[in-house]
Amino acid sequence: MPAIRPLSETLISQIAAGEVVDRPASVLKELLENSLDAGATDIGIALAEGGIKQIRVVDNGSGIAKDDLPMAFARHATSKIASLEDLEQIRSLGFRGEALASIASVARVVMASRATGAAHAFALSAEAGSIGAVEPAAQPPGTAVEVDDLYYNTPARRKFLKSDATEFAHCEAVFTRAALSRPDVTFTLRHNGRIAARFAPTDPAQRVEAALGPEFAQSMRSVEANGVLRLSGFAGSPAYTRASRDAQFVYVNGRFVRDKLLSHALREAYRDVLHGERHPAFVLFLEIDPRGVDVNVHPAKIEIRFRDPRAVHQFVFHAVAKGLSGTAAETPAAIASPLVTGSSIRPRADQAALGLAQPVASYTAMFADRGSSAGAAAVKSPAREDPDAADAPPLGFALAQLHGVYILAQNQQGLIL
Ligand SMILES: Nc1ncnc2c1ncn2[C@@H]1O[C@H](COP(=O)(O)OP(=O)(O)OP(=O)(O)O)[C@@H](O)[C@H]1O
Ligand SMILES: [Mg+2]
Repeated sequence: MPAIRPLSETLISQIAAGEVVDRPASVLKELLENSLDAGATDIGIALAEGGIKQIRVVDNGSGIAKDDLPMAFARHATSKIASLEDLEQIRSLGFRGEALASIASVARVVMASRATGAAHAFALSAEAGSIGAVEPAAQPPGTAVEVDDLYYNTPARRKFLKSDATEFAHCEAVFTRAALSRPDVTFTLRHNGRIAARFAPTDPAQRVEAALGPEFAQSMRSVEANGVLRLSGFAGSPAYTRASRDAQFVYVNGRFVRDKLLSHALREAYRDVLHGERHPAFVLFLEIDPRGVDVNVHPAKIEIRFRDPRAVHQFVFHAVAKGLSGTAAETPAAIASPLVTGSSIRPRADQAALGLAQPVASYTAMFADRGSSAGAAAVKSPAREDPDAADAPPLGFALAQLHGVYILAQNQQGLIL
């Protein structure tokens, strides 16, 4: 065996980059996180050739002071945490001080920044791990980062990249996640010189509609639960389902995450109202004391660990189930009815009040609601009603719920599903 030798700094960064930067979309994710951490309210993204040729992110955030610019590319250098105590209660999206160093080890990077209150901007370029000199630049307050020729120096890795269209689709997904997380921020996405998407600042419901389309927006229920934790956002009605999980967005303290515990809580919340192999759509934001969640468990910061998983599971399950209660019997036609209008979509008071634990009772209430609006007698208790009574509603009385979706009812003619 050869002697044990320390790796060069560049090789260390390239190894780290393998975990942090696995395609253009992950570069874009890191740059967007930096812009949001800098307090930007306007972020412009320009991609060329799916982001493989170029990724440029321009923000109007706090910028970087001239003397700090070289540090931005240093490994393990960050302005976001300074102690173990900070690490245990992370409030920013970044904290490792690793992203820019990793990106600069596998691409050509130019960063121009003008700090808030500074009279001038300065730029710095980095290539293959070596950092150039700080030079004056023309740049409004904020930061512009340009990443060119991803993996130009690691051709083996470049071969793993897919077509421009596929890489762009991944970038678009990252862009959508960021745009959904911050409706107050302007986001613009250009690809090969053409505008692919532009989101003006707005409220959460309208941002969801702009990003995911009116069909989802019309079906979605508002979710709002407050306690030690807070869950807010929108859960798609069971009538709006998708073949894949592509419209499932869960954020913890503003960070898009993929978490098995939260996924399970959500699956459970939809279990009684969703049928078949279809997947629900949702955009949900969980706010939790940062000390109650560990974000330092995954290189891409996309997985997390809760300190009290049971409490989180129960809270999320109940909040979403409550938001969905009463929606199971809705057909797409019912969804299109004026039940949900405008941008601030809330469940009806009777739906919010009904727990998912009593789905049959909720259907009974809905039948009663529709029956009475049609002038028929209200249904109080299906068990005690006589279906042959002259004033029975045309659809009869609910007897049972099947597969969590269908209602078995009885009227004068017989059984109705
Ligand atoms: N767009 C930006 N605006 C202002 N400061 C920035 C911007 N991008 C980077 N920085 C500064 O450069 C530092 C290094 O950025 P980098 O992304 O490498 O690390 P980080 O964000 O601290 O942690 P992580 O590796 O988890 O992303 C940041 O801590 C921040 O101070
Ligand atoms: Mg960062």
